[in-house]
Amino acid sequence: MRRILANGTLVTPEGLRRADLALEGEKIVEIAAHIEPGLTDVVEDVSGCWVFPGFIDAHTHLQCWTGMDWTADSFETGTRAAACGGTTCIVDYATADRGVTMDEALAEWHRRAEGGSGCTANYGFHMAIAEWGEDSPGQMRRMREAGVSSFKTYLAYDHLRLSDAETLRCLEVVRDLDAVLCVHCENGDVVNELQRRVLASGVTGPEGHPLSRPAEAEADAVSRLLYLAQIAGAKVNVVHLSTELGLLAVRAARARGQQGIYVETCPQYLTLDDTRYLEAGDDGFAGAKYVMSPPLRKPRDVRALREAVLAGEVDSIATDHCSFNLQGQKDRGRDDFTRIPNGGPGIEHRPAVMATTFEGQLGPEELCRLLAEGPARVFGLWPERGRLAVGAAADVCVWDPSARWTISAATQHQAVDYTPWEGFEAHGRAHLVYVGGELVARDGEPCGPTPGRYVAR
Ligand code: URP
Ligand code: ZN
Ligand code: ZN
Repeated sequence: MRRILANGTLVTPEGLRRADLALEGEKIVEIAAHIEPGLTDVVEDVSGCWVFPGFIDAHTHLQCWTGMDWTADSFETGTRAAACGGTTCIVDYATADRGVTMDEALAEWHRRAEGGSGCTANYGFHMAIAEWGEDSPGQMRRMREAGVSSFKTYLAYDHLRLSDAETLRCLEVVRDLDAVLCVHCENGDVVNELQRRVLASGVTGPEGHPLSRPAEAEADAVSRLLYLAQIAGAKVNVVHLSTELGLLAVRAARARGQQGIYVETCPQYLTLDDTRYLEAGDDGFAGAKYVMSPPLRKPRDVRALREAVLAGEVDSIATDHCSFNLQGQKDRGRDDFTRIPNGGPGIEHRPAVMATTFEGQLGPEELCRLLAEGPARVFGLWPERGRLAVGAAADVCVWDPSARWTISAATQHQAVDYTPWEGFEAHGRAHLVYVGGELVARDGEPCGPTPGRYVAR
């Protein structure tokens, strides 16, 4: 049985093309102006729709202990929500906490993803490294052999961060393995000091969070990372870039001729600003919804990042989906913003929020680059994923640009009690979503199957 998507506009690496596309098994088997269906074929008329390669979210934290609490979304709920929004593959951050080897962490993340009722979207893993030791290079080599071709380190968070010397050593191994190092760029010492000062000044609510994590702390860390990467000759992905100052540091390094710099930003930094921390809500604590690191920034940062997206300076847009409920999780930090678990949800809504925000500015090809092709290329999923072509994976998102709907926690599939985009009027929606050739979601609702598998990169 083939599934034939008829009469759509295909978003291919060669450009837009009015054509039919056939899926069989786990592959795209035919693209042609017209595909004649056989008796057992299932045909969907997708006229008026854009047919994308399934979207890829290369920055998620599912079913993860982040130092304060477990995230609200498991692999089961997170990948289901992802698929409902059009995302067919995620790359999640497996984390080797201190005292845990990378091999143990990877095995644990596989167990988590294989548990429950399974994953709806495909998944790969980055490996986050929270301590450096003599054995780290060997462990990284084994990760590479197991299909983990990207690593992550932190320059902030005391329980996770490496020193500059350790970061440099890690970058040298990343270079030797032809891998990519994703880095959380904030100056951890500055953040610690400012958190202490803000609390001492009597500011304990969510509005203290951005005060303790200024743009300069990001820009300093971005700049330092890029110099370290230059010394090592390694490829780096600056994750969740949130500031104009950080962007200037990237531009400066690129202007110096440095190669191998990738930039990721997230929908929250392209649509929301730091006035959200003043949101009170019913119980005066709604600002906690936006406590994530880095924090939401000034409107000028939002503008600068949007311009960078339009100028082609951003390689991928990912979510940093790291969900915690407002009730029962984030509200444990009611008297001290440093105790609010950091992170927010977005895995389900990234394509719709981005398509709407950039409507009339980014066409389907650019959306494809930012949401599918870009992450596929940076993270070793290309050419199997991130493009529509015969022989590529049958992971496809049929997008209806004429759909109109409203984002709300009441109707979302993310297992969390809010969305930062409550009331957002979305233009466009994932109409049909296929993973491994199976129809997993229709018009934002799951269809049942859980074909999601581990993707070695
Ligand atoms: O606040 C956030 N972003 N939590 C997730 C961990 C990280 O820093 O990416
Ligand atoms: Zn981070
Ligand atoms: Zn993250």
